[in-house]
Amino acid sequence: MRKVRHLIEPTDFTIKELEDLFELADLIIENPRKYSRQCDGKILVTLFYEPSTRTRFSFEAAMMRLGGNILGFSDPNSSSTAKGENILDTIRIVSGYADIAVMRHPVEGGPKAASLYSKIPVINAGDGGHQHPTQTLTDLYTIRSKFGRLDNLKIGICGDLKYGRTTHSLVKAMSRYENNTFSFISPEELKMPAYICDELNRNGGDQYKEFRTIEDAIGDVDILYMTRIQRERFSDLEMYERVKDSCILTTDKMKLAGENMIVLHPLPRVNEIHPDVDADERACYFQQAENGMYVRMSLLMLLLDETGDFYNGKVLPVNDSMTSVVEMDECRNPKCITGYEPSLKQRFITYGDGTKVCDYCGAVLEKYCTGDK
Ligand code: NCD
Repeated sequence: MRKVRHLIEPTDFTIKELEDLFELADLIIENPRKYSRQCDGKILVTLFYEPSTRTRFSFEAAMMRLGGNILGFSDPNSSSTAKGENILDTIRIVSGYADIAVMRHPVEGGPKAASLYSKIPVINAGDGGHQHPTQTLTDLYTIRSKFGRLDNLKIGICGDLKYGRTTHSLVKAMSRYENNTFSFISPEELKMPAYICDELNRNGGDQYKEFRTIEDAIGDVDILYMTRIQRERFSDLEMYERVKDSCILTTDKMKLAGENMIVLHPLPRVNEIHPDVDADERACYFQQAENGMYVRMSLLMLLLDETGDFYNGKVLPVNDSMTSVVEMDECRNPKCITGYEPSLKQRFITYGDGTKVCDYCGAVLEKYCTGDK
């Protein structure tokens, strides 16, 4: 099978490739008509096993604006999933019909598993509470356009850091740039998962601090990235009720922030940003959502350009400290796709310090015996 590039984790692209992608998005915004036939004759398939507005529509709009076509489903019950088909068979089939696939799945590692069985590029549009790399492209593009850089920034991330996949991808992506630091703001119950903090610790240095309130952190950040409490991922709804109003951004709290700070949010919001904040010039979340379409146009063009440098049948760039992929042991994260698809081979990445991480869901082998990530 020929080599195909996928986007499963934000780190699947090098920093240079990300910059190429953002520069192309700049050009598309400057002159969209020039790109209106770039994907002529190409077909995008959208496989959405979970609800979506922005991600699916912006991908579909992106393909249409490039002159391509779309097919897919937004409700798995209208597909053969309802008859019991697994995602591995589904991707095998649709990769014979379409040129590129976008998949959102409730199980961690679902799109990664699909990519191993696919003849066409697979883009992860969100896998459970794990990763959401194309939201991160949108976030990085917005930060880059506001600050003119992606390094030397103080990034506050607030809300549901435990289940919020956008926050995990944002940390992975921004920690690759020099001198970025993070302020994690959340109730104790919704702290950033250990596997993300471990990764930051592996980079060395004091890259993050934890806070319980917005007031304690907002005065010392360049970016405040707000997130929704992910009700659908709580097994204990009483806990959800307890924490759901713990971090709400109001105009009063905005008074404590610097004048050049920006507020981002992947959206949808529930009540975590008061609507009065929308009028503040520092509120950039609607602009961020619009950027998402242009960034996805750029992504589709690059992944479909089999002749360009970007594609070129290259193997995925791997993290420097990553030494090998081994197929032994068993992932113990109960939310990992390996628990749902018995035919999938287990895959672990071993890092230089000996840590072994599941290649599908990111769980560190030794740590997740309790089943808690
Ligand atoms: C996010 C997601 O699906 O993770 N939404 C999005 O894609 N913009 C955030 C969320 O649902 O809270």
